[in-house]
Amino acid sequence: MKSETALDAIGKTPMVRLAGFEPPGGAEIWIKLEGGNPTGSYKDRMAVSVLTRAMERGDLKPGDRVVEYTGGSTGTALAFVSAVLGLRFTAVFSDAFSDSKRQAMAAFGAEVLVEPSDGTITPELIQRMKTRAYGLAGEPGSYYADQFGSPDVRAGYVPMGHEIAADLGHVDMLVAAVGTGAAMMGTVDGLAAAGQTPDVIALEPLQSPLLTTGTGGPHKVEGIGVGFEPPFLDRSRLCDIRTVDQDAAFDMCRRLAAEAGVLGGGSTGLNVVAAIELAKELGPGKRVVTIACDTGAKYLGGHIYG
Ligand SMILES: Cc1ncc(COP(=O)(O)O)c(C=O)c1O
Repeated sequence: MKSETALDAIGKTPMVRLAGFEPPGGAEIWIKLEGGNPTGSYKDRMAVSVLTRAMERGDLKPGDRVVEYTGGSTGTALAFVSAVLGLRFTAVFSDAFSDSKRQAMAAFGAEVLVEPSDGTITPELIQRMKTRAYGLAGEPGSYYADQFGSPDVRAGYVPMGHEIAADLGHVDMLVAAVGTGAAMMGTVDGLAAAGQTPDVIALEPLQSPLLTTGTGGPHKVEGIGVGFEPPFLDRSRLCDIRTVDQDAAFDMCRRLAAEAGVLGGGSTGLNVVAAIELAKELGPGKRVVTIACDTGAKYLGGHIYG
C-alpha cells in the first residue's frame, strides 16, 4: 500500500476472534487491535481528527503551535500528527509520568515542558499543568487541542465503529473501559451509522468505582478511571457499568500475550475480563466486541509484564 503521509497508517486495525477465551456455551468474543496504530494507541485517531478538522476550519495552519497538557499517550499522538502536518506541538507534562512518554513526544519533535512534582499525580499538579497550558494556548499562533472538551475528539473514533461493522456485520454487545469516554461513544456513533445498535457496557477499575458508587480511589490501570465523570460519556446510551478488579486485568494481560499473542496495556486486560463474563451471560449465537486500546510494548519493564 502506497501512502502520501504516515497519517494513512492510522486505523483499519485488525479484528481478531479470541476463540480460546470464549466460555463454553457463551458468545463469540472479538477484539480490535488498536496497538497497531503508529504511536501504539487508539489516541492517534483523536489526534488526527482534532488537528485536521481545526485546519479545515482555518483555526490552525502549518507553523502554528498546538498546546495540550498530558500524561503521555495523547501527547505522543498529538506530537506524531503535528510532525506530519507541519505544526509545532508543546506538551505540558510532568516528571510524575513515565520518562519514556517524554522521550516519545520529544522524538516527534515536540517541545516538552516538565512541571516538577513530588513523584505522585495529584489534583494540584494536574491543575498546575492545566493553568500553564491554558496560558500558552492564549498566546498568538497557538491552538488548544482540548482533549477533554473538543467534539472533534469523539468524532475521531467514529471510523472505529465503521470498521467494526464492516468486519463483523452484526454486533450484539460493545464492552470497554472508559477514560474520557470518547473512544466508546465515537465507536457507538460509527456503529449506529452502519445500522448497528449493540448493548453498550462501560467498565472501570474495581479499585476506583467512581461511576458505579460516586467515589474514586487510587488504581494502576493507565488511561481509565480518571477520577471524574468522563466528559464524553453518554450514560443514557449505556446498558450497564461494571467494575473489574485490576489484578484480574493484569493477569489477563499476561494470558492474552502468552495464549493469543495479543500484547496489550492494563485497560485491554480489563476489557477482556469483562468480555468473558458478558459472553457467558449472553450465551451462544451472540457476538461481544471489545478493544485492545494500546500496545503492551509500552508497559514492558513495568508492573504488568515485569
Ligand atoms: C491505554 C488506554 N486505555 C483506555 C483509554 C480510555 O479512552 P477514552 O479516554 O477515549 O475513554 C485510554 C485513554 O487515555 C488509554 O490511554
